Amino acid sequence: MAVERVQTIAFSSILVDTIPPEFIRSEKEQPALTTCLGCIPQVPTIDFSDPDEGNLTRLIAEASSEWAMFQIVNHGIPSEVITNLQKAGKEFFELPQEEKELYAKPPDSKSIEGYGSKLQKEVEGKKAWVDHLFHNIWPPSAINYQYWPKNPPSYRAVNEEYCKWVQPVGHRLLSLLSLGLGLEKNELKENVGGDELKYLLKINYYPPCPRPDLALGVVAHTDMSSITILVPNEVQGLQVFRDDHWFDVKYIPDALVIHIGDQLEILSNGKYKSVLHRTTVTKEITRMSWPVFLEPPSELAIGPLPKLINEKNPPKYQKKKYCDYVYCKLNKIAQ
Ligand code: SIN
Ligand code: FE2
Repeated sequence: MAVERVQTIAFSSILVDTIPPEFIRSEKEQPALTTCLGCIPQVPTIDFSDPDEGNLTRLIAEASSEWAMFQIVNHGIPSEVITNLQKAGKEFFELPQEEKELYAKPPDSKSIEGYGSKLQKEVEGKKAWVDHLFHNIWPPSAINYQYWPKNPPSYRAVNEEYCKWVQPVGHRLLSLLSLGLGLEKNELKENVGGDELKYLLKINYYPPCPRPDLALGVVAHTDMSSITILVPNEVQGLQVFRDDHWFDVKYIPDALVIHIGDQLEILSNGKYKSVLHRTTVTKEITRMSWPVFLEPPSELAIGPLPKLINEKNPPKYQKKKYCDYVYCKLNKIAQ
């Protein structure tokens, strides 16, 4: 049986102004009941062009321990490169359904790549108001062009261009995060795979939802990656959990949103935290986002870095191959 996409459900929901019950969250999760409206603090915004490397390292390390998420401005990626990436992704999701289905993740595929909707139900059997497309963008040996849309025709070129620009940002972030732990510049990068570090792009497509008060886009989770570099569109929707509250992450034009992922929490033995986040949806407009997950090669074993542990600070996490970590997390096996 063909999978029903959220985009199709959204289209029929608008006509009746209700959503199917499997999208209605319990009161513990409903954004209208759980978002902290009066909360003032914001995830830090950091000027990535700051020539004072010591200062930049301190700001990034603080943000990574406290919020586990921050935004960077003046990151060096030209706005045009980002706008083109967004335009091509949007055009793909606006294609007729049958054309998008050509890129659907095959049901028996072990890889995450392809177009789809989350099939398994989540917390309390609920579903997420979002469709997605996943494909690797780096290294070349990890790329499967069968999952890269041929339409719009610019898709491949603009994604390759974005990939070229996002890599130096990823490397610089890892080196600043490394310095922030008191390590050598390249130590963190080497420990997440060095030149084999994989860049996995996801496009999230959140169609308009007649009951944004009741539904969630992506449910609360932490990313499994080392770090995630995210381009949002201009529609507010990302939320971060801190001190028992859900905070809106303010949309800042041209900023990139950086998430600390599980692998960095593990490597740093908990000095950096992986960020719990979720997304809300809106009534009239489509929200989209383009996270790139910087993932270790699947056979690489990741555990707390020996330099960061001692008698007073014993390892808090087990060392595991990245593929085993992913398997355990997706199958909810205790870590
Ligand atoms: C995610 O990080 O899981 C999605 C975030 C977003 O859409 O902004
Ligand atoms: Fe995420």
